[in-house]
Parts: sequence; C-alpha cells; structure tokens
Amino acid sequence: MLQARGEEAINDHIALRTFNLAPVNLGALSEIFTRRGYRQSGEYVFEAKKLLAASFSHEDPDRPRVFISELRTELCSGLVQETARELVSQVQHSGDELLLKHPTWSAVTHERYQALLAESEYAAWLAVYGLRANHFTIAVNRLETFGEDQPLVALNRWLKAQGLELNQSGGEIKGSPQALLEQSSTMADLFDAHFAGGHIASVPSCYCEFAFRHPDPGSPTGLFDGFVTSSADKIFESTHAR
Ligand code: NI
Repeated sequence: MLQARGEEAINDHIALRTFNLAPVNLGALSEIFTRRGYRQSGEYVFEAKKLLAASFSHEDPDRPRVFISELRTELCSGLVQETARELVSQVQHSGDELLLKHPTWSAVTHERYQALLAESEYAAWLAVYGLRANHFTIAVNRLETFGEDQPLVALNRWLKAQGLELNQSGGEIKGSPQALLEQSSTMADLFDAHFAGGHIASVPSCYCEFAFRHPDPGSPTGLFDGFVTSSADKIFESTHAR
C-alpha cells in the first residue's frame, strides 16, 4: 500500500522471539547478527511478561535494527518449562539455519496451545510459529508523503482509512518525543494454524509496526537507536486476540 503511494518501505527493525534455552536462546540468535557487523545497542527487561531482550544496530542505515527477546522459562510454570524443553530439543541445527529452517519444531496440540495461552501469550505464539520474524517495522523517518509535522499521526490516520486495525494498548502511539521514540502497530492478522492431531484453529500471527525516531546527538546515526521498554511492552500485545 505504501509502495502504491510512491513510498519506499524501509525497515526500522525486525523482531524475533525465542525461549532462553540452548541452542535457540538470545545469545545464539544474536551471534547471527553480530557476525555480520551488528553491535548491541541496548538490553531490556520485561518483568510481567518474563522476558529479557536486546537490540542490535548496523552502521549501514538501510539495514534494519534487530530486536530479540527470550522467555525466561525458569520463571514460568512446569507446563511452559516442559513444553519449551520439548520443542527446543527438536532443534538439530545452528547458525543461520536457526532462522531459515521451518518449521522450527513440530506442532503442539490445540489443548497445549490453549494452556500456554492462559499463562503466556508469548509462549503460545512461539510454540506455533517458532523462530521467524514476529513483526517488521516501517521506518517512518524515511517516508516522504506524510508531512514533517507528526508524520506518525498522519500515517496512522491513513492506515485506518485503508481499513487496518491498530493496536490501542497503551494508546495508539506508544512513546513520546521526550522518550525519543514513537511507535504504533497493526493488530496481528489471523492465521489458520495446524495443530497436532489435525485440529485447525485461527490464531494471531504477525503484524506491522511503524517507528518514528527523534534526534539523539549521542547516537552514531544522529537518531535515537534504542527501544523504550514501556512502549515495547504494549507493542508485544499486537499478537493478543481481540
Ligand atoms: Ni518492534
């Protein structure tokens, strides 16, 4: 839709979710990127969601930042711990193949999915989709047709006029000019997931985020390069069922 408007959609960042268990933990996934010249730009803790996360940037401004989070399974119930161990034990590869080989693990039953969902939406999503981009993020700073004054507000208005539903958790725009980062996102599309035993059910999948970064003289790019924990906490909820 943006391309049809004459825009080039450049990614601000992509986001990956994982369990904190070898060989798929945050450290293992981050190596895929640091090997390619990415450097860590921040570390984040999400107490309620039991997540640890880190962000990575590349000196080439056309390469997306990468935001990787991991579920701290030891803080979760026996059911989540057991499921995570079961799924991760199926992963026999390493390096780039962690992200490129799909499916990452075999399907769980729908009953297991619902039990995970009751405790952790993050764990349930990860069990279904494995290691893949949870969302892509349009760099709003790089858009040219939404004006200079509050382009994210203009973009959101246009997205809604196109019929897209935006995440309203914590307000339509998360963050502020003072926080140096403003973000919005669509709600995840639904996808017919195939569960073990042949059951098919419609579950939230992936979404698109929009990020506007404010100037930060301390950053190599001149723009704020990190993430804001309180905003990211609400963006995670883009994969919640309506
Ligand atoms: Ni994001």
